Amino acid sequence: MSEERSIPRHIAIIMDGNGRWARMRGKERSEGHLAGMNSLRETVRNVAMAGVKYLTVYAFSTENWGRPQAEVDALMELICKGVELESEELVKAGIKVRAIGERSRFSQKVRASLEKIEQMTAQGQTMTFALALNYSSRSELTAAMQSIAQRVAEGKMKTEEITEQTISDALYTSFMPDPDLIIRTSGECRLSNFLMWQASYSEFYFTPTLWPDFDKAELEKALEAYAARDRRYGLVK
Ligand code: FPP
Repeated sequence: MSEERSIPRHIAIIMDGNGRWARMRGKERSEGHLAGMNSLRETVRNVAMAGVKYLTVYAFSTENWGRPQAEVDALMELICKGVELESEELVKAGIKVRAIGERSRFSQKVRASLEKIEQMTAQGQTMTFALALNYSSRSELTAAMQSIAQRVAEGKMKTEEITEQTISDALYTSFMPDPDLIIRTSGECRLSNFLMWQASYSEFYFTPTLWPDFDKAELEKALEAYAARDRRYGLVK
């Protein structure tokens, strides 16, 4: 009898290479992001079909505000468009969408879009899809430390009662298990301020494929690589 392949419960993706994909075709960077959005749409479905229960994607980092205003505007527009065009399909597919990150910096329009899709998809049971927006791991950890320190200062908790779980529970990702597999496209091999606490025991998969070209066959390669990994969590087999 063949053994069943191990499937990650939670996949996190650093979607990189939209700009290079566009440049190689003589297109504007925003067209690369549009192609990236199509790739994201397909990936959400493919990941859910593979039986994965949580998917997190790094869609906009706290550092991305420093990009040219036209590109930032195009990304904001894509968020709103994506919500408008995809929400019904996501409801049908049973996908629960959550935004993680500091959303106060977004316009009222973007925040309303995010709240709308979160509400519409709240009952989804098939997979949870977390969009990291205005997210960075350091800002997330800073906010978590502040909230824990506040509880201690108010006498609601003792310093010695702070555990690893206390910290995990104070992060934006508290509703998800840690990622089993982190994928980064476009050949870069770094974490770029993404899920640093949560990635402690994640498996990493780097591919030179640019994000707009990341299709079902590429996902399959990543799942295959994951299944072949030997996860020991610091123990001996
Ligand atoms: C990285 O490529 C990609 C991003 C910063 C944005 C990711 C956005 C999408 C996939 C589509 C939009 C989806 C949402 C929800 C906003 P890059 O621009 O850094 O590429 P480069 O390194 O080749 O320049």
